[in-house]
Amino acid sequence: MLHIALAKGRIAKKVMKSLSDGGYQFPDYSDDSRKLIFTDKEGRIRVTLVKSPDVAVYVRRGAADAGIVGKDVLMEDGEEDVYEILDLGIGKCRMAVSGIKGKRDVMNKRILTVASKYPSIARKYFAGRFQPIDIIKLNGSIELAPILGLSDVIVDIVETGTTLRENGLKVVTEFMPISARFIANKASYQFKHAEMDTMLEKLRDTLHKQEEE
Ligand code: PRP
Repeated sequence: MLHIALAKGRIAKKVMKSLSDGGYQFPDYSDDSRKLIFTDKEGRIRVTLVKSPDVAVYVRRGAADAGIVGKDVLMEDGEEDVYEILDLGIGKCRMAVSGIKGKRDVMNKRILTVASKYPSIARKYFAGRFQPIDIIKLNGSIELAPILGLSDVIVDIVETGTTLRENGLKVVTEFMPISARFIANKASYQFKHAEMDTMLEKLRDTLHKQEEE
C-alpha cells in the first residue's frame, strides 16, 4: 500500500476529489470530517492529512512514501533528502512583497522591517538585492503587520489578491511562482515507483480536468 501525506486545506480538498474521480474511493472521507487517516476501498492508498510544514518531515523519515505540498512550504522548511517528482499545477499562487497601498517609498528605507511566515525565503530574496532587513516571523494573518505598524512590508503568498485588497494592501513586487508538488521518500521511490506512477497518472488526468471545469 502507498502512504501519501497530504497538506491539509485547499490542496487536500482538490487532491481527494481528484483521487475519487480517478477511481480511488474513500467511503469515510468528507471535506469537513475531522478524521486524519483514510484508506481507499481496495486498499491501494492510505492518505493522511497533515499540517503543510510537516509533509516533508513524514516523507523524509519514511513515515509516508510520498507527499503533496506547496513549493512555498518546501522551500521554507527544507526540501533536501526527498525527491521532488512532479509539479501538479494546482494551488497556484505567487510569492510577493506587499505593503500599504500608496506607500511605495517605504521600500527606500535603509533597513526594511519585513513580516513573514517565510523568513528564509524573505531573507534570501532581500539578500539577493543587497537590502538589509529586520525579519519578524509570524504564523498567519500576516497582512495585519504593516497595518498595525509592526512591519514596513510583508512577504507572503498571493492567490486571488482578495486578502490584500480587503485590508488596504498592495503588491510591491511578485518574485516567485508557487504550486503544489508531489514529493517522494527516496527509498520508497525505488521500491514503489510503479504504484506511484500509476497513481500519479490518474491524478494528473483528473486534476487537469478539474482545472478545466
Ligand atoms: C494565505 C496567505 C494570504 C492569503 C492569500 O493565507 O497568507 O493571507 O492566503 O490568498 P488570496 O490572495 O486569495 O486572498 P491562509 O489562508 O493560508 O491563512 P493564514 O494567513 O492564516 O496563513
